[in-house]
Parts: sequence; structure tokens; C-alpha cells
Amino acid sequence: MNPLNHVAIIMDGNGRWGLKYKNSRNAGHQEGLKTVEKIIQETIHQKIKYLTLYAFSTENWKRPRKEIKYLFNLLENFLITKIDKLNDQNIKLKIIGIKNFSTKLNKLLNLAEKKTFKNTKLQINLALNYGSKSEIINALKKLKKDKKQINEKNLSKNLQTRDIPDPEILIRTGNTKRLSNFLLWQAAYSEIFFEKKLWPSFERRDFKKIIRKYKSIKRNFGSI
Ligand code: IPE
Ligand code: IPE
Ligand code: MG
Repeated sequence: MNPLNHVAIIMDGNGRWGLKYKNSRNAGHQEGLKTVEKIIQETIHQKIKYLTLYAFSTENWKRPRKEIKYLFNLLENFLITKIDKLNDQNIKLKIIGIKNFSTKLNKLLNLAEKKTFKNTKLQINLALNYGSKSEIINALKKLKKDKKQINEKNLSKNLQTRDIPDPEILIRTGNTKRLSNFLLWQAAYSEIFFEKKLWPSFERRDFKKIIRKYKSIKRNFGSI
């Protein structure tokens, strides 16, 4: 059976779900948050150590201001109401991406990271204003500045995912088959699952099914 330490998810399809069932994209974002909570619980249940969730890409700034505002409000409320619960469950929250939001949100994010820093059960990497290309470029710039050799090990050590294993599983919900600038380096050998369901409809049993499938895959890494 394949080991499983890290699952990464592109949580796509909120807008379409919202339009379809509630006539509002934002209602889909709200519903999507419930899926986040369910998947966190299943990740703990499966004893998986790292969960990376793509919540907002560097390209998502192209969306209407109102939708962006709604998304960040949702995140603020989530942090205010749920951080203690996450902390009680021994969960560590880490933000990957560039934290250049409102002063209030930046503060909340820093506080959440600080509060949960020592937790050991599960690390959630929340990808916010995250773009894989800029992450790689920043890592290269850092190597150049520090006069370090450019090799795979040094580059990995300067990504925001430093110190954690690459994801064995990458899931994208929402019936779209692309990576949208997510973990391009780290997913070099990930098993990729493109899921038809929209994120708010994705359930624990769908997640379990993927994990079961993953465990039985023959992973070659170039060998035979
Ligand atoms: C993903 O759902 C969540 C974010 C990008 C914040 P979308 O909002 O992209 O939903 P669709 O793809 O438009 O349905
Ligand atoms: C990817 O979804 C980003 C997140 C899920 C946060 P998008 O909906 O932004 O991706 P594209 O634009 O369809 O590729
Ligand atoms: Mg989308």
C-alpha cells in the first residue's frame, strides 16, 4: 500500500454550485466552507499529516471586487469563529502565498498561525494569493541572493512548502482538468484526481474513494 502524508486540493466549482442551486455565486462559496470542514475531519480520521487547500490564486484578483470582498469576509469569519476549535483539535494552520490583504485579515492570519504553530496532529496549508510560478521565482531569487547552488534540494528548501513532503494526491473538483498555477513543482509526481463534482457537493465518501484508489496505484517514479 502506498504511504499517504500529504493531500492537496484545488477546491473548484463553488460559483457554479451557487448559481445552480441558490442563484448566487457567493452562496456557493459559503456552502464550500462546509465541505472544507468535512474534509478536514476526514483527513484527521485518515491520519494524514498535511492538507493543502487552494483557496485563492494570484489570478483570482481578476474577479469582480464584490466576489473578492465576499470571499475574504467569509475567511475572516471562519478564522474568528473556528480557530479555537482547530487549535483544540491540535491542528496547525499555515498560509502559503503572499499575505497582502487588509490589515484586519493579515492580523487574523498571523494570529491563527501563531496560535497553532506548535500543533502536531495535522498541518493545513491554506493557499491564499498563491501562485506556483511566483513561488518558484522567489525561491530562485533567494538562492541567487544567498549565493547558493541551484539544485532540486535547494530550490525545494526555499519554497513555501519547505520541510513538508510533496503531495502524493492532488485532487481538483469542479470537472475541469487543469492545475491553474497550483504546486507545479511539488506535484511533479503526484497522483492527480480530477473529480466531476463541484466542491460544495464533494463528500467525505468521495474523498475516501480517492484515497482507496490511490493506495492501490502502482507508482513508478520512472522505474518499472
Ligand atoms: C473555487 O470555486 C473557489 C475560488 C476560486 C475562490 P470557483 O469560484 O472558481 O467556482 P467556479 O469554478 O466558478 O464554479
Ligand atoms: C483555481 O480555480 C483556484 C482555486 C480553486 C482557488 P479557478 O476557478 O480560479 O481556476 P480557473 O481560472 O478556472 O483555471
Ligand atoms: Mg473555478
